[in-house]
Amino acid sequence: MEKILAPSILSADFKILGEQISETEKAGAQYIHFDVMDGLFVPSISFGMPVLSSIRSLTGQTIDVHMMVSEPVRLVENFVKCGADILTVHYEACSELKEDIDFIHSLGVKAGISIKPETPVEALEPYLEQADMFLVMCVVPGFGGQTFLPGSIEKIGRLRGMLRERGMEKDIEVDGGIHHSNVREVLDAGANVIVAGSAVYRGDIRDNTQRFMEILKNYG
Ligand code: DX5
Ligand code: ZN
Repeated sequence: MEKILAPSILSADFKILGEQISETEKAGAQYIHFDVMDGLFVPSISFGMPVLSSIRSLTGQTIDVHMMVSEPVRLVENFVKCGADILTVHYEACSELKEDIDFIHSLGVKAGISIKPETPVEALEPYLEQADMFLVMCVVPGFGGQTFLPGSIEKIGRLRGMLRERGMEKDIEVDGGIHHSNVREVLDAGANVIVAGSAVYRGDIRDNTQRFMEILKNYG
């Protein structure tokens, strides 16, 4: 499966956001990870539609929107209009998840389902066929720069096993606490879409991205 880097702009410097995103694009990152927070599902508030529209006009990268929002179905149509390519909603935030995934698909974009650290991967079982991507959170969602929770490795492995048993090759995205030092571990466990915020945007962005891309390209 293709190994994909999705730099999270939550850790970017917003006064020069466009320049910083271009650095990740030039260095080969395929996605932009766009974290939407509503101050309700998670304690913080990040950014939304107007910022997404601006970014859409800047880059050809795939925009991977992570909705940390209660009942995200209210907003997904607007996010698609503003340029989202993938919309990932939280299992814990949707009261009608099956209907919500169908609705996202009806808008012509890919649909992902995310689980918090305390949610077991077995909760995803009824949706394995339906969704395009599964996002395993490796920190409690809400902030960048947190420490990777080691229990995530086992969850990624179990989820990859559940997909394989059913003959399905689907994307498993991992988010939170991923650095150059532990990215191989999550790849070994079965993840193939790697979100990295602080590990890309703190320091030399182009160099940080290139180092991730080399690891992903050379991964057996
Ligand atoms: C956290 C967000 C992440 C965050 C990751 O709730 O979903 O995407 O930006 O940041 P790092 O890679 O610094 O843990
Ligand atoms: Zn995220």
